Amino acid sequence: MNPAASSADAPPRRTFADFPLYAPGPKYWGPTRGVQRDPIGYHLKAVSLHGPVYRTTYHGRESLCIGGLEANDFVWRNSALWDYSVTRASFQQEFGSDYLTGLNGERHKDKRRRLNPAFRPEFLFASAPRMCATARSELAAAKGPVELRQLCHRLLLNMTAHALLGLDVPLPMQRAIIRVERDLLLGGGRGPGREAWFRRPVYTRAKAKVVDYLGQLARTWAADPASAPEMFRAVLREGAEGEPALSEKELLGDIYLLLTGGLNSTANLVLWTLMYVYHRPDWLAQLRAEVEAVPPERFTSMKEWPKIKATVLEIERLRPPTPINTLVAASDCEYKGIEIPKGSALTHFLSLTHFLPEIYAEPHEFRPERFLGDAAYPPKAHAAFGGGAHMCIGMPLARLEVPLILATLLPRYDVEFRIRPSFAARHGAALTPRERGLWATLKERS
Ligand code: HEM
Repeated sequence: MNPAASSADAPPRRTFADFPLYAPGPKYWGPTRGVQRDPIGYHLKAVSLHGPVYRTTYHGRESLCIGGLEANDFVWRNSALWDYSVTRASFQQEFGSDYLTGLNGERHKDKRRRLNPAFRPEFLFASAPRMCATARSELAAAKGPVELRQLCHRLLLNMTAHALLGLDVPLPMQRAIIRVERDLLLGGGRGPGREAWFRRPVYTRAKAKVVDYLGQLARTWAADPASAPEMFRAVLREGAEGEPALSEKELLGDIYLLLTGGLNSTANLVLWTLMYVYHRPDWLAQLRAEVEAVPPERFTSMKEWPKIKATVLEIERLRPPTPINTLVAASDCEYKGIEIPKGSALTHFLSLTHFLPEIYAEPHEFRPERFLGDAAYPPKAHAAFGGGAHMCIGMPLARLEVPLILATLLPRYDVEFRIRPSFAARHGAALTPRERGLWATLKERS
């Protein structure tokens, strides 16, 4: 390469202050409320005004926002640049300093190595019949009008608990677990208000119950690994080779992760899928035909359900549970000539690529057909599960549980929504429908 040409082509050096501040009017559409009301729309508006690099403030903290294919590549290729102990501190604060999500560097790598076997696709696929059986009995119990968001949470929690961890979680404990997981995620996004959030009695009471329940499991399974479910034995076994015994607190955190990791993301993904699919009867009929040809009992690979797979990919694209990630620089670095000082905050709009018409035609439409056949998209365009060293560890589980729920539910039930949903999104513990309660009746098909 010609060095003279490369230095002439090098982007000029810039600092955060060189980029426009996106700050819509403070009264109603103020930055924090704007993001919460419509996180994707908020950032798409900023991109349309300023391009894919701009500044904004969230909970009083200013950050540089970046998005697009280059940004995804930069963030994921350089996982060591980000200090996860800062941005995901709530997990560590609440579930111990060994909790995977807030670890960096070698400790993070070791922990992933230990937890990875729990998400082996062969193990998960072998558990598919049990997951379907759990889904069937949860659905059969959903008599009368049901609130769909709650139903999706319960379905997923019980599929993992029952089919993978051999647990029959009592209903009050299910409620406590769902609250703790939701509050953990909401608290993590509250910036300086986090401490007060985690001191609320409604949260501390639920957390105490959950810790007590999981602590007993950790003690029992550690004392007699043969009594532990296969998913957890894999985690114990990996830790055993010449390493010091794992503390009860660490084991408790691991069980919590296996049981609840991604619960909000996956539940909302199922919820969005039901909303979109049941409002597109032609596509619903095609999905039913696909599942009737290969029912869940005979299913062995996602290749047998291309339309279900395309549906899930499309919902992940259109309504990504984590459309934006916050990062803090662990050391001085730079992106396209922009100086990023150690400790500064970055907002990674990872799902910007999902809404670029040059990548996905008519990006705001629900068009699962775009993922059929030999359709090909740039490798880092589909960003729902993140990327790099911290990429979602639960992706194989989510990508099995969601199709299994669809395959169990679609052929058996018509879902009659009490009102037509708006399909608008808001910021919750994951990207969630704007409606607070989504009531529907599951009518068994004859
Ligand atoms: C549709 C469902 C899900 C979506 C969209 C999702 C999305 C994500 C995203 C975007 C990240 C951040 C990746 C990054 O920083 O680049 C993440 C991390 C993570 N996810 Fe998921 N997730 C889902 C389901 C699950 C499930 C079922 C689990 C089960 C355990 C799980 C556990 C985790 C954990 C532990 C991390 C942190 C990984 C690390 O820091 O090494 N997720 N997920």
